[in-house]
Amino acid sequence: MALVTSKEMFEKAYAGGYAIGAFNVNNMEIVQGITEAAQELKSPVILQASAGARKYANPSYLKKLVEAAVIECPDIDIVMHLDHGPDFETCKSCVDNGFTSVMIDASSKPFEENIAITKEVVEYAHAHGVVVEAELGALAGIEDDVNVSEENSAYTRPEEVEEFVSRTGVDSLAIAIGTSHGAFKFKPGTDPQLRFDILDEIVKKIPNFPIVLHGASSVPQEYVKIINAHGGKLVDAIGVPEDQLRQAARSAVCKINIDSDLRLGFTAGIRETFEAKPELFDPRGYLKPARENVKAIVRHKIMDVLGSAGKM
Ligand code: G3H
Ligand code: 13P
Ligand code: ZN
Repeated sequence: MALVTSKEMFEKAYAGGYAIGAFNVNNMEIVQGITEAAQELKSPVILQASAGARKYANPSYLKKLVEAAVIECPDIDIVMHLDHGPDFETCKSCVDNGFTSVMIDASSKPFEENIAITKEVVEYAHAHGVVVEAELGALAGIEDDVNVSEENSAYTRPEEVEEFVSRTGVDSLAIAIGTSHGAFKFKPGTDPQLRFDILDEIVKKIPNFPIVLHGASSVPQEYVKIINAHGGKLVDAIGVPEDQLRQAARSAVCKINIDSDLRLGFTAGIRETFEAKPELFDPRGYLKPARENVKAIVRHKIMDVLGSAGKM
């Protein structure tokens, strides 16, 4: 099976009340962990590369890793997506390099500017058979090398979404309803609560339109504990409760972005192995448990949060 766009994937997810996991990839072990889980569970999956991932791994290597996954996972549909494309040139370069989906993130720009940049990307991408995600509203946390402070984060305004979608021709829309990037999403002692009331308002304005949730890691405490028990220092790492992600997946949210959870699993695997086997210096010895943790996390997400198992 070749790489596909997310168009049909999202139509089925919307109608079926589940979501597709969009997992960030930075190296071979992460690509393998994600796609092995998706293949075994017969789940469609989105592999996404951020600008930072492309800088780290080199776009050619990332593309070839994903192509290898397509060969190794013949039973599932895979989307290759650009995460948080900062400008037209980056999006164009990914379209030209065979990505099947790109995100243009001009959410920090004024509304009219966001529309203009998104429209330009949509025109180019659609002419090449590639779909486009855009964003309205600002998530708190680290967003594409930009640190959006909590005070400056803004929920998506439902009254803007219809005009944005119709004027840009975009295929899916990332919204801000209380999630944020990274592993420190909420203050300790607070009760994390996504704004489902805003999501409902948005869905009323753009019915049947696929919504994307960024910053959707749940920050599993078992991995935080392993990291901290083996020399790490993650203080007050808190994520989105999984029951709220499940609720989102059943709604118009068709794509759920997860990166930090994979980072935690990967790091826990390495830290645990280093402490258990101080004599080890073969990278395969510690990258294998890291990869296994990534696979276990993706399995859990697909089965218990996203609901996308068996949807091929
Ligand atoms: O949206 C942010 C993702 O977690 C990607 O992060 O830019 O460090 O690769 P990154
Ligand atoms: P997390 O940091 O919650 O994993 O979010 C990842 C993300 O939104 C990537 O675009
Ligand atoms: Zn994001």
